[in-house]
Amino acid sequence: MDILKVISDRKSTRGFLDKPVERKTLERLLSLATRAPSAINLQPWEFVVVSGEERKRLSRFLVKRMRERNISCGPDASDPLPERFIARQKGLLDSMLPGIPEGLHFQEFFNEGSCNFYGAPTAIIINIDHVFSSLHLTDIGIVVGYFVLAAHTLGLGSCPIGLITAFGDDIRELLNLPDGKKVVIAVAVGYRDPDAKINQVRSERVPLADVVRWLE
Ligand SMILES: Cc1cc2nc3c(=O)[nH]c(=O)nc-3n(C[C@H](O)[C@H](O)[C@H](O)COP(=O)(O)O)c2cc1C
Repeated sequence: MDILKVISDRKSTRGFLDKPVERKTLERLLSLATRAPSAINLQPWEFVVVSGEERKRLSRFLVKRMRERNISCGPDASDPLPERFIARQKGLLDSMLPGIPEGLHFQEFFNEGSCNFYGAPTAIIINIDHVFSSLHLTDIGIVVGYFVLAAHTLGLGSCPIGLITAFGDDIRELLNLPDGKKVVIAVAVGYRDPDAKINQVRSERVPLADVVRWLE
């Protein structure tokens, strides 16, 4: 498959079929994703692959915690966002509204949906050892990029789920992660539901001129 087409066509999946992904396929996907570059080839990523009943148990726990603590999807920023970022967030919500099931508020769709990994049969929790500085979070970002592209190539849908990092300590306890591991991000993965309206949404990108400066 043409990699440029994969990059251009991929989009996050928020509606999955109730169909497990075979262990062999997940192994292939993870092998491809971990071809990602990393600083000094340290490969600081660690994955916990949570499927089936365990995934549902994790989601029940996350939904409960999310309701108790009133956590919501949003930019994890230390200061109020400049207007241009607010506009991009609004652009995403506007593009998604037609795909959100009727009667569901978008916050509910995103918050509960994220905790439920949008019904994906598998959630991959990606962790890093505490010894690493924030530079190595870039390694994790790249591995997630490879992961979502490889998933698309293998006919799978995926969605990175950052919301769950609000419950990092709880997840560590529930999944019996050793001390000193930090939950960086999760990715939902499974077969795309072709009938889910939300999966038709294609998110916009700002013009290059808004994000690129050329110095010559
Ligand atoms: C670090 C990161 C965290 C994300 N967290 C969430 C999340 O918690 N819930 C969700 O529905 N989507 C999440 N997403 C998906 C983004 O909303 C999505 O990538 C973005 O809107 C662009 O859309 P696209 O992936 O379809 O191109 C996350 C993506 C990234 C890269």
